Amino acid sequence: MSDKPFTFDIVHQEKMILSKYDNHIVRRLSAMKGQFSDAEAYERMLAEKDRVLYEVYEVERPKATGELLHGLSIVLSGKVGNEFNMTKGHFHSVIETSEVYYCLRGVGYMVMETPEGKWAVEPFKPQSVLYVPPRWAHRSINTGEEDLVLFFVYPGNAGHDYGSIEKQGFRKLIVQKDGKPFIIDNPRWLPPEER
Ligand code: F6R
Ligand code: ZN
Repeated sequence: MSDKPFTFDIVHQEKMILSKYDNHIVRRLSAMKGQFSDAEAYERMLAEKDRVLYEVYEVERPKATGELLHGLSIVLSGKVGNEFNMTKGHFHSVIETSEVYYCLRGVGYMVMETPEGKWAVEPFKPQSVLYVPPRWAHRSINTGEEDLVLFFVYPGNAGHDYGSIEKQGFRKLIVQKDGKPFIIDNPRWLPPEER
């Protein structure tokens, strides 16, 4: 991996892409078992097709303090039942690390929470910048009809902790009601003292 400065472009084609990247991660419906609240709708859709929910293009950097990992995450438009397409979501393994997101295209939300159960939901629209402070787990959700395209930057040593989110999901869900996105309580979520 080069230690020299470099530049690259965010290429606006029919799909947005980076002119230079090292890893391309594709997450499909099958990778999200137990994450969507409507399990029946999930199984029905999966039986039809294991469709792509989101993609990540990463520029590889050493996983070290002082480095900044960065790339593009693209959440495709769609729903499972009445719940909008979303990323798995995670805490950073080094929980005191933060992240910056810049929205290039599309609309949606970032759903966030702390280990103590504080929660926050912030909207994305083109040119929004979102700061995820240390200790906040984060999940991006596409509530629009086109791709939600986000550029992200976070510390090289952060790592990903998916475990606790996989168990019960986030405290809040974003669902479609009367054609609009709504924030609702996740019935599976328990406060830390009841887990
Ligand atoms: C990195 C980060 C993003 C996500 C990406 C996919 O810390 O927050 O690059 O990794 O949006 O989401 P996950 O990792 O939750 O599947
Ligand atoms: Zn992150």
